[in-house]
Amino acid sequence: MPELVWSGKYEADGSRRQPHLPVAALRTVEAGGVAPDETSHTAPNRLIAGETQRVLPALLAELAGQVNLVYIDPPFATGLDFTSTITLPGSERHIRRTAYRDTWGSPDDYLRWMDETLWLLRELLADDGALLLHCDWRAEGMLRLLLDDIFGAENFRNAIIWSYRSGGASRREALARKHDTILLYARSPRFHIRPQIERQYLRKPFMGSACDARGRHYVNTLLRDVLEGEMTCVGADGGLVRYNVRPVLNLSRDRLDYPTQKPLGLLQLLLTLTSDPGDLVLDCCCGSGATAHAAETLRRRWIAADASPLAIQTTRKRLLALAAPRPFIVQRPVHEGEMQVAASAATLTFTVEQSGRAVTVRLTGYTPPPGSMLSTDNSSAADDPTHGLWHLDSWSVDWAHDGAIIRHRAHAARARNGARELSAALECTFADPGHYTIAVHVVDFAAHETTRTVEVTVE
Ligand SMILES: C[S@@+](CC[C@H](N)C(=O)[O-])C[C@H]1O[C@@H](n2cnc3c(N)ncnc32)[C@H](O)[C@@H]1O
Repeated sequence: MPELVWSGKYEADGSRRQPHLPVAALRTVEAGGVAPDETSHTAPNRLIAGETQRVLPALLAELAGQVNLVYIDPPFATGLDFTSTITLPGSERHIRRTAYRDTWGSPDDYLRWMDETLWLLRELLADDGALLLHCDWRAEGMLRLLLDDIFGAENFRNAIIWSYRSGGASRREALARKHDTILLYARSPRFHIRPQIERQYLRKPFMGSACDARGRHYVNTLLRDVLEGEMTCVGADGGLVRYNVRPVLNLSRDRLDYPTQKPLGLLQLLLTLTSDPGDLVLDCCCGSGATAHAAETLRRRWIAADASPLAIQTTRKRLLALAAPRPFIVQRPVHEGEMQVAASAATLTFTVEQSGRAVTVRLTGYTPPPGSMLSTDNSSAADDPTHGLWHLDSWSVDWAHDGAIIRHRAHAARARNGARELSAALECTFADPGHYTIAVHVVDFAAHETTRTVEVTVE
């Protein structure tokens, strides 16, 4: 067999190096979503803030062989920093945020990380599970050989092409590069694809074509391994299911200001092809949270993780914006003896107004932590009618804080499209009198999180 070799692949005794990473505990720090009923015992979905090197060994200690599907859209060794610039409407303020850096010392460094990550992911997979690796022309060749090495070439199933039209990019030396490749590897021969029937509409009747109630001619064919545009499939009940796999462009309604965001429809189609309702789906480089969102809509269980605080904020906000997200927790890996995340040095002020059992928390001011990219802004507090609240992207209140987990019981967030306004007041009417700890949790545009608590007595 031809073999891809990189420095560090083998131990001195010639054996293949395997990751030996310390196992962290996953500490739950937040909870969101709505339980269908209080007695429901299903494990909550999980958003984990951390690097694969810390998150995957912790998951392996708990879930080896139990994940049904992995989707991973890792950095492609582009050598670039991925940023997003946002502008608040009604102001000239532009904020350029770094989502993540994709710079590696050498291709060996990249391969060492990918090898370790893919090895751990394979160990997490159930025997009849599969992995989807999303990549582009830069890393595809290397990653295909690496996956052959880790999964076995016999377990390769498809190189799915996601084809798109975006931007101009006319080139002299090459054709415009307008597709990504999603490599599908089975954990074992027990994996099976869930084939879909695609409906293709025709300009005119064709041999064997049919005609729908609206007079459109169509043929139903088995979905092939090229995904593009708006795709229509015939569901199990005969109804039509649409998957919009167009790229998320700058002006798209679905855009969440996270670079490299993949379309929800693409993830929905991929999950439909490779998993069943109730299955556990893992994405350890979740970015904007497209996989978790798709899993929510298709009733799969999910675990999403990312090293970037901006990815965690984008995913948290995306999930909390869903009509009735199922319960999910936010976790952080913590190694023994390691300090918890240091308390935020930001300044947050708010008032608490009480009228009988109705309690209103009103934000009155925010100053980002010193050294934050936001604190370079020169607007003096005196000229700022919002008292710095414009720095905030979202906030939540936990009306009955237990001292450990922030429960997002009330939440306000800026929408990317439409209103950029952020409601500065959240209220709650307590059912029972008593003494409560209220926790106020805010996240600014640089994804800094700050929590402050206050005690109230409700008569
Ligand atoms: C190409 S983006 C994923 C985009 C995502 N599929 C979406 O639809 O938004 C790659 C992601 O990998 C994350 N990442 C890079 N290195 C990582 C690491 N060592 N551990 C965890 N996440 C990492 C980045 O923060 C980034 O969000």
